[in-house]
Amino acid sequence: MRDGLCHIACYFANIRAFAPFHLAIIHRLQPMSKTIVLTGITTTGTPHLGNYVGAIRPAIEASQDHNVLPFYFLADYHALIKCQESERVSQSTLEIAATWLALGLDTENAVFYRQSDVPEIAELSWMLSCVTAKGLMNRAHAYKAAVQANEEGGEADPDKGVTMGLFNYPILMAADILLFNAHKVPVGKDQIQHIEMARDIGGRFNHIYGEHFNIPAAVVNEDTATLCGLDGRKMSKSYDNTIPLFLPEKPFRKLIMKIKTNSLEPGVPKDPDTCTLFGIYKAFATKDEAAAVRKRYEDGIAWGEMKQFLFEYLNEHLLTARERYEALLQSPDKIEEILAEGAEKARSHSVPFMKKIRNSVGIRGLTRK
Ligand code: TRP
Repeated sequence: MRDGLCHIACYFANIRAFAPFHLAIIHRLQPMSKTIVLTGITTTGTPHLGNYVGAIRPAIEASQDHNVLPFYFLADYHALIKCQESERVSQSTLEIAATWLALGLDTENAVFYRQSDVPEIAELSWMLSCVTAKGLMNRAHAYKAAVQANEEGGEADPDKGVTMGLFNYPILMAADILLFNAHKVPVGKDQIQHIEMARDIGGRFNHIYGEHFNIPAAVVNEDTATLCGLDGRKMSKSYDNTIPLFLPEKPFRKLIMKIKTNSLEPGVPKDPDTCTLFGIYKAFATKDEAAAVRKRYEDGIAWGEMKQFLFEYLNEHLLTARERYEALLQSPDKIEEILAEGAEKARSHSVPFMKKIRNSVGIRGLTRK
């Protein structure tokens, strides 16, 4: 582990006990090695059941492991790439922060912050863009998909509608990751290429300016369930088939009743493994509970009955967190306070680290040799 990291790990591990002595003492403490796990959540939507099962729940579980130092942040700069509706970006930031807090993110252990509250990210992003080959960005999936769509649509300009934000997206993401010397970056499969690019870019910078950055690894959790949405396709914002996690009880029930099933009659045995309802249930239930419901499918449970059962089960499961969520939405000042503390923790690392980076590229006081 690099020096700066040992310090930050010790800093967080001991801040409560040693706060009055602050950094001076921290440098004398035995280095404690913690794995830095970092991930960002783009603030463009309302968290849904699929987000919860696939990303939020595992991240919150990891935040309780004290061998891990998690950095979780609201990627609001990334949001601007996809969404130019200011109200939606700010509402989504509020909802996502409230969701993570309501679900019990341990902010004593995790560093939970808003990307735009750490200006060093944007600064590093520029420095990284100066060592990144344009050709590398030409190969990014998101950019290539946009170009392909233009070409297929008969557009004369293959770059039509492509902003520099979209084109540079992987560099901003590399800055998010490299700034905190993350070891592990949990992401969905669609993001693996971006982590590879962060590795390339970090390696390039290290080669030119010295070993500043840890080279991060992507972590793709294969055990987390992927849920299907209302229409039976993968639950995803882009298919408009999601079930928001903290919808109030009545509309929540209504959506569950709308989930598409086949038309098998009550009493006819049904296949749980191809059923959206069972897939969702299984992601929340214990093994024994899932086995019992499997049996009810064999016995020909009616779809209406299964939907009502699923609604009651999820509602019960989410009840207290939903109450906490609603209370948090009513006190955004509380959320701001928590995010400000997170940004302060993050910047206790990023400010001195960027000073080093700036110095390494030759941006430094003129009186210094
Ligand atoms: N681009 C990621 C996504 O859309 C979000 C993100 C931004 C991120 N910065 C990151 C994820 C850094 C991991 C690390 O899912």
